[in-house]
Amino acid sequence: MGQVLTGKVAFVTGAGRGIGRAIATALAREGVNVGLIARTEEAIREVANEIRGMGVNAAYAIADVSVREQVEQTVAKLTNELGNADILINNAGIGKFQALVDTDPDEWKRTIEVNLMGPYYVTRAVLPQLIKKNGGDIINISSTNGLNGAATSSAYSASKFGLIGMTESLAQEVRRHNIRVTALAPSTVATELAEKSNLITGNKEKYMQPADLAEFVISQLKLHPRIYVKTATLLGTNPF
Ligand SMILES: NC(=O)c1ccc[n+]([C@@H]2O[C@H](COP(=O)([O-])OP(=O)(O)OC[C@H]3O[C@@H](n4cnc5c(N)ncnc54)[C@H](OP(=O)(O)O)[C@@H]3O)[C@@H](O)[C@H]2O)c1
Repeated sequence: MGQVLTGKVAFVTGAGRGIGRAIATALAREGVNVGLIARTEEAIREVANEIRGMGVNAAYAIADVSVREQVEQTVAKLTNELGNADILINNAGIGKFQALVDTDPDEWKRTIEVNLMGPYYVTRAVLPQLIKKNGGDIINISSTNGLNGAATSSAYSASKFGLIGMTESLAQEVRRHNIRVTALAPSTVATELAEKSNLITGNKEKYMQPADLAEFVISQLKLHPRIYVKTATLLGTNPF
C-alpha cells in the first residue's frame, strides 16, 4: 500500500501558472493543504481561491525565491497559516536561452540565482520542518537541460545541472530522516516559459502538458515511504 496524501501540507514555489499551478491544484485534489509562493500576487491569489474551492486550506505569500530574506519571511507566513510542511516542490524557475557570449553577465547570474540559489534558500528554510516530522518529500524541478547541455543553454544548464547535484547530495544527507529528495527532468512542457523561449512549434497539444507532470508528481508522492525516485526524466512522445 502506498501513502494517502489527504491532510498533508505542501509548499509549492512558482505556483502562479504553468507547472507549479498544475502541481498545486493536483495536490489540492488529493486533499493536501497548499502554500503557494511566487512574485505576482494576483496570480497566486487566484490559484489560492481555486484551491479553497476544492475544500482544502490554501495560503499564499509573495517572494522572489532568489532573495533569502523574502524566502524566510514567506516560509514563516505559510507555516503560521498551514502548519509545518510535509512536501516541498521547488518549481520556480526562469529560462534564458542564448549563446554564452551574447548573454548579459547579469542575466547569466540571475538564472543561477533563481534556478539554483532559489531552491537552496527555500529548502534551507523548509527542511527543518520535515526533519521535525521525521519524513516528507522534496521534489526539485530540473530539466533535460540539467542532464545534457545544448547550444544556447549554458546558463540554464549550469543552473539545472547544479540543482540535480544539490538534489542527489541532499537525498543522501536526509535519508536517515525518512525524507525523499527527487529531481524531475522534463523535456519541453507547454507553458508560458516554453512559448516565450520559442520551444513550442505548431500544435501545443502534442507537447507534454503541466497536468501530465502533475499526475506523475502525485503518483510519486504516493509511493510507499520505503522507496524513492532519485532522478526521473520525462520526455514528450512526439515533440517535433
Ligand atoms: N516549460 C518547460 O518546457 C520546462 C521544461 C523543463 C523544466 N522546466 C522547469 O519547470 C519550472 C516551471 O516552469 P514553467 O514552464 O511552468 O514556467 P512559467 O510558466 O514561466 O512559470 C514559472 C512560475 O515561477 C514563478 N517564478 C519565476 N521566477 C520566480 C522567482 N524569482 N521567485 C518566485 N517565483 C518565480 C512565476 O511567477 P512570477 O513570475 O509571478 O514570480 C511562475 O508562477 C521551472 O523551474 C522550469 O525551469 C520547464
